[in-house]
Amino acid sequence: MLTGEQVRSQSLMSIDYGTHATKIAFIGKSGRAQPVTHDDGRTSIPTAIYFDSKGKYYVGAEALNMGVLDPQNLIQNAKRLMGSDKILYADNNGKEWHAHEIAQICMELAKAATEKETGLIHRYAVVSVPANYTDKQKEDTIKAAKQAGFEEVDLIHEPTAAMFAYCANTERTVPDGIRLVCDVGGGTTDVSQVTKSGNRFEVIATNGVSKLGGMDFTKVIVDEVITRFESKTGQKISHESHPEVYADLWRRAEESKFRLNRSESVKIPVVTDDHKELVAFSQDDMRHVCATLLEQIIACLKKTLDDAQISLDDVIELIPIGGGSQLFCVLEALEKFYGKPLAKGDALHCVSLGAALKGWESKGHVQVDEGTILPSRGLLLRDVTAHALGLRALNAQGKEVFTTVLAKSVPMPSKITKEFMLSEEGVTDAVVEILQGEKGQDVDTCLSLGSFELTGLEPRYGEPHRIMVEFNIDTNGLLTATAFDPIGGQSADLQLHYNKSGQPSLEGENE
Ligand SMILES: Nc1ncnc2c1ncn2[C@@H]1O[C@H](COP(=O)(O)OP(=O)(O)OP(=O)(O)O)[C@@H](O)[C@H]1O
Ligand SMILES: [Mg+2]
Repeated sequence: MLTGEQVRSQSLMSIDYGTHATKIAFIGKSGRAQPVTHDDGRTSIPTAIYFDSKGKYYVGAEALNMGVLDPQNLIQNAKRLMGSDKILYADNNGKEWHAHEIAQICMELAKAATEKETGLIHRYAVVSVPANYTDKQKEDTIKAAKQAGFEEVDLIHEPTAAMFAYCANTERTVPDGIRLVCDVGGGTTDVSQVTKSGNRFEVIATNGVSKLGGMDFTKVIVDEVITRFESKTGQKISHESHPEVYADLWRRAEESKFRLNRSESVKIPVVTDDHKELVAFSQDDMRHVCATLLEQIIACLKKTLDDAQISLDDVIELIPIGGGSQLFCVLEALEKFYGKPLAKGDALHCVSLGAALKGWESKGHVQVDEGTILPSRGLLLRDVTAHALGLRALNAQGKEVFTTVLAKSVPMPSKITKEFMLSEEGVTDAVVEILQGEKGQDVDTCLSLGSFELTGLEPRYGEPHRIMVEFNIDTNGLLTATAFDPIGGQSADLQLHYNKSGQPSLEGENE
């Protein structure tokens, strides 16, 4: 129970809302970021929610236990669907649950656990997000945190946070130079390339693969074991046909990843009503079934080096972060790619620790107990955008193209204005569709972030009708866009209507 004095004291905390587990941190009295320890002694909460038949929900380890006998009512990996409108679960009270509401429940628990540990009220949270999250995914993350009770929320890219903690949350002297951080989590993989120069930390490039993490390594084991079981017994197993057998196999495959880090081979039991089999699975099998996943991780590292136009020889450390990076074959692949021994960080907590440090630096101070406020350490962290943002437009040949307005890897915050011409004469309104992609990407494969309409334009004939489009990216990487007619004065701000595509009607001047 908090005292009246404590209720008045406020501070910041951080949340690494993970696909697999949620890690939280705060700034301790020692002036270091530290993880929150939960009642069960753990420093992470499984990101899982179980709903009972009365519609009551349970979070974390308790949810996982209850879900063993009833996997259909257990929700896991909800982070992968952040930003989508998909209904993940309908409970018995008629409530439909979306990914951001699952996140909200986890963040409420994180807030309560931190306040219990620190005796302070935490109204400001820095929440980490995958580097390549879209605008909508970032907005949903902020929404979840606000609904969980935080009044102020900032975001930080996960690999950037990890590198910040690796360099700045330690007693040891960390040399200046360029580092690569590779965060293979439970469901996402992110890479940041960062330069440290004294107290300045500047991200040069960042990339991510949104659906690649520890759960994908578990899945390839599950798939392979099911194939072998079927070839021995003739029985087919799937998530739909045998939900409990599948859930049990998933848990065993998950454990097997840890055992394979130490043993050359493991045996995985598969038990159905008709058959019992022990399926042998070796380290070589693992290397074989996850070859494509490993290639994707290495491709992400190479792309980040290319984006930054930096050679691997200039990288002084490659730091594997995130639980998924600790799998023996991921470490092998990373070391082979780097050609030198890998650095060792706190793979599980680095992200939440770095996010707490960012909060401290952003505010310029932090309250660590009722009477103590620590001033900022004067660290400067500058991150960059993970995507190019632009418009659907027509090029000189009349072909629809993705026209970049804000390039990839620009510092956040950034603002840019670009001029376009309407493609037809006498037009009174124009629809601007905002796209996210890579420079030169086929327009139809870019992600449509939404569209907005500029109306009431004065029709113009015999002269180009110029329209200015301004993109503004804030420190959290969120986009605000404005279009205006510099002569007529009409303007429109971006009201994102996600997944709705507008009619292209602008012509890119520079294409
Ligand atoms: N020592 C280990 N060896 C192999 N796999 C591991 C190890 N430790 C953790 N993992 C795997 O790492 C994953 C969880 O990692 P982590 O907690 O970093 O993910 P997360 O932060 O929840 O996910 P994300 O960052 O993708 O949202 C799980 O798939 C787990 O099986
Ligand atoms: Mg993570």
